[in-house]
Amino acid sequence: MSTQGRIALCPGTYDPVTFGHLDIVERASRLFSSVVVAVAEGSKKKQPLFTADERITLMRASVEHLGNVQVTGFNGLVTTHAREVGASVIAKGVRSAADFDYESQMAQFNHRLADEVQTVFLPASPEWAFLSSSGVREAAAWGADVSGWVPAHVAQALRDRIGPTA
Ligand code: COA
Repeated sequence: MSTQGRIALCPGTYDPVTFGHLDIVERASRLFSSVVVAVAEGSKKKQPLFTADERITLMRASVEHLGNVQVTGFNGLVTTHAREVGASVIAKGVRSAADFDYESQMAQFNHRLADEVQTVFLPASPEWAFLSSSGVREAAAWGADVSGWVPAHVAQALRDRIGPTA
């Protein structure tokens, strides 16, 4: 499969975006002609900390240095949104065997929903393999310095929303 001329979709909740997510988006932006970061507006998990508009704004500010990356919001199936934006690839980061199990099942569902869309897994870089948005949220809520894990504007948004003095 040639990667040139292809649009890759990087879907996720991004509550909030971390350096682990950005590592995947940056690497996808070097592999594919363009990348659409698709922020899931609803969540099957509990209420997100940041609204969909806030998560989109935080993501846009995090990828503005990447000329071939756009950010959208979506509701519903990821394959439907892939078709809407013309993406032929879904690119997902995989941190662990547990991620791989979960993501393989998602990839098989998505293949049956849209067999023209290929899922591509990118292994998380080792320095970010421990990172999760929920870990960042919990650390920030207890006043830890999370500036090594998220961009500065995201760390500020976390302090404003859930820092111990918020
Ligand atoms: N670096 C750091 N953290 C990462 C990461 C990376 N490379 N990749 C994933 N994560 C973390 C996230 O931070 C998040 O952490 P948390 O649970 O601690 O908050 C966790 O992995 C899960 O990511 P999230 O984006 O919430 O979920 P997901 O990867 O399962 O994907 C959707 C979310 C929206 C893409 C997915 O649910 C979806 O496609 N929904 C639409 C319905 C659909 O089409 N379903 C498919 C078939 S039916």
